[in-house]
Amino acid sequence: MNVPNSTAALDAAAHMHPYTNARKLEAEGPRVMDHGKGVRVYDEQGNEYIEALAGLWSVGVGFSQQRLADAAAAQMAKLPYYHTFAQKTHGPAARLADKLVSLTPDNLTRVFFTNSGSEANDTVIKMVWFLNNALGRPEKKKFIARKNGYHGITIASGSLTGLPWNHTDFDLPAIPVTHLTTPHAYGFAEEGESEEDFAQRLADELEATIEAEGADTIAAFIGEPLIGAGGVLVPPKGYWEKVQEICRRHDILIVADEVITGFGRTGKMFACETFGITPDILVMSKQLTSSYMPLAAIALSDKVYEGIADHTAKLGTFGHGFTGSGHPVATAVGLENLAIIEEQDLVANAAAMGKILQAELAKFADHPMVGQVRGEGLIAAVQLMADKATRTKFDPEGTVGAYVFERAHDHGLIIRNIKDAIAFCPPLIITEDEVREVVARFGRTLDDATEFARKEGLFAG
Ligand SMILES: Cc1ncc(COP(=O)(O)O)c(C=O)c1O
Repeated sequence: MNVPNSTAALDAAAHMHPYTNARKLEAEGPRVMDHGKGVRVYDEQGNEYIEALAGLWSVGVGFSQQRLADAAAAQMAKLPYYHTFAQKTHGPAARLADKLVSLTPDNLTRVFFTNSGSEANDTVIKMVWFLNNALGRPEKKKFIARKNGYHGITIASGSLTGLPWNHTDFDLPAIPVTHLTTPHAYGFAEEGESEEDFAQRLADELEATIEAEGADTIAAFIGEPLIGAGGVLVPPKGYWEKVQEICRRHDILIVADEVITGFGRTGKMFACETFGITPDILVMSKQLTSSYMPLAAIALSDKVYEGIADHTAKLGTFGHGFTGSGHPVATAVGLENLAIIEEQDLVANAAAMGKILQAELAKFADHPMVGQVRGEGLIAAVQLMADKATRTKFDPEGTVGAYVFERAHDHGLIIRNIKDAIAFCPPLIITEDEVREVVARFGRTLDDATEFARKEGLFAG
């Protein structure tokens, strides 16, 4: 940081970062990452870390897949760029669209590409609005989302997101959206309420919202099958079944945001399978290319596609798309990435390693500061609490989580804290030994955090 012209010094002086306290970065400088191998990354000083969040929940095949570098280089050399506007295409976009149609639930038959998950969800909103205008129901435009859901940060997708820091002082939400109760029993069920009763209460809330606002004003329900960035929140049993029944009855589209959960994360190719969801629209990104290139995709049901397609014929075009929609290098990398996932059976590996990860983390449930251990497949969270018996949060909330996040680096571990929930989402290629190493490093970090919390008077146990 103090070395002139070092990466850290240049960065601190010139680079404004996403999701970062800018003043803290200026003062302390960034942690400079340098290279990766398998599930590990190394910083500029050569320190080794297991990346137990797979970057941003995304680097499924790990940090050193030569095949993806080769696929990118080959496509760069052959046709580095072409667009997909005005009836043009190229091999990688066409082949990846076909591949995604074959992998996603059977009722989804068309794919639209964007560069990011946020753009994909923005596109979904516009597609749904376009469709309902085409169908002559211009009032049917509102979205239903959930508190603590995450769907991106652009003006429209950020409106769907249900997290305060994505709205505060950004003047969001800016589109008509209603955020319902977070579907997670540990934090949101009432005392003594069973998981089933909680799921029913959420269903009743949805029904009452539709009743109050009018089904003819509500276009779609959007949700992550399992909430990721909002805390790794597994829905109560029966939740998705009830939500789908209500939405179908009121002609409300179901959008599954599988940006984190897609491509094996929960132990199935899509979490829609894990949770029994038949979406009208499914959104994918992240593990689609293992984030080696920016790419997202939206899969559409026949019903949605046909309505939109007819309207494009009437208007002469679909007036929406990005310069990078279906970018040849990104889609070539996506194809190769999916080939690796299939050839190495990484979905089955995620299921098997997920079982071990969940079982090993569950051993922390007896720890005095651990309120809950939760997850599905290879995504998990350990919820830290000031008083687990009374489910009392730390005050201020997030202090211990932030300590764990920082301290984990010293133990060679990268995780994410979501307030005081510690999230794990390692690459799909992880081995059993590496899972055990993640857990051991976390255990050492938790010991330090317990001492810290006691010393700071945050935890009396
Ligand atoms: C479920 C979900 N949807 C959408 C997004 C937004 O994706 P992006 O950051 O690529 O815009 C994310 C990002 O974490 C996500 O987790």
